[in-house]
Amino acid sequence: MNRLTDPKSMGPRHYLTVFDLSCEEILSLINSGLRLKRHCKSGLPYRPAIGKVLGLLFEKASTRTRVSFESAMLQMGGSTVFMPSRDLQLGRGESLKDTARVLSRYLDCIVVRTFGQEIVDEIARWADIPVINGLTDLHHPCQVLSDIMTVIEHRGRDLKTLKMVWIGDGNNVAHSWIQAASRLGFGLTLACPEGYRPDRKILETAQAEATAPITVLTDPVEAIRDADVVNTDVWVSMGQEKEAQKRREIFAPYQVNTRLLAKANADVIVLHCLPAHREEEISEGVLEGPNSVVWDQAENKMYLHMAILKWAMRL
Ligand code: CP
Ligand code: NVA
Repeated sequence: MNRLTDPKSMGPRHYLTVFDLSCEEILSLINSGLRLKRHCKSGLPYRPAIGKVLGLLFEKASTRTRVSFESAMLQMGGSTVFMPSRDLQLGRGESLKDTARVLSRYLDCIVVRTFGQEIVDEIARWADIPVINGLTDLHHPCQVLSDIMTVIEHRGRDLKTLKMVWIGDGNNVAHSWIQAASRLGFGLTLACPEGYRPDRKILETAQAEATAPITVLTDPVEAIRDADVVNTDVWVSMGQEKEAQKRREIFAPYQVNTRLLAKANADVIVLHCLPAHREEEISEGVLEGPNSVVWDQAENKMYLHMAILKWAMRL
C-alpha cells in the first residue's frame, strides 16, 4: 500500500490507475457499488455528500463517465461543477500545478478526463483533494471496476474460475483490465493485432505480479474459445481519429460477431464499455443479442462511481 492510498495517511486518496488500489480495496469498492445499487433501487435516500462539491475537468468527450459521476454526486446530496478544460485558463496556458492548487481550494474531489497520463499524475501531485482518473490515453481505471461489478452480478464472485477474454485494441480499457487481472488474481486472455498489443511496460509489470496467466495472442478465434466473459472496445479511441481508416482495415478480423462468439461458451456474457460502433468492433446482433450485458454495465458505472466518491472523500 502506498502513501496515496493508505487510509491512515492524511493525504488525499487519488485513483489514477488500478494499481493505486489493493485487491481488498478493489473488492470493497465493488461491494460498496453493489450495496449502493440495492439501496438506491429501494427508493431510500442516501445523502452523505451534502455540502460537498465535485469538479469534472474534461478535455475529451464523455456521455457515461460525465453523467454517471454527476448523477452519483447529486444523488448523494452533493453538487458538481463541469469544467471543459478549453474554458478554463488552462486552455490559455495556465499551469497544471497552479490550476490543481486553486481548484483544491474550491472543490472536495475532482475527476479528470484527458489525453496523457502525465497530466492527471501532475494534477494529483499538486492537488490537496482526491483526484480520480476518468480516462486517459493509457488507463480507464473507473471503467474496469464497474465492468467487474457487472461480471459479478451475472456470473458470481468466483472470478478466478471464469475465462475472461479481451478482443481488439490493447488500449486504455485493456490496460486497466490487465492491472485488475493482476491485482485480483484472475486470468485474462487478450487477442490483439500485431502493433496494437498493450503497452509493454504495463503488461510486463502486471504479469510480474500476477498469480494467473495474462496472455496476449493475435488469433481472436483461439482467444475466445470457451470464454465466459468477452470484452471489446472501439478500434479508434479518442485522439486516434487520423488513424481511423488504417485501424478499420487491420482490426476487421477482430469484430465480435455471432460467428466469433459461437466459439465461446453458450452462456458467455459480452461487455463493451460503450460508445459502440456497430459493425466495426461489435456486430448489431451481438450488441443487442441475449449474451450482451452492456446496458447493465453502463448503469453500474453510476453506483460504482458513488462508491468511489464515498471512498475518496471519506464519506
Ligand atoms: N465508457 C465510457 O467511459 O463512456 P463515455 O466515454 O461516454 O464516458
Ligand atoms: N478506448 C476508448 C474508450 C472510451 C470510453 C477511448 O479512449 O476513446
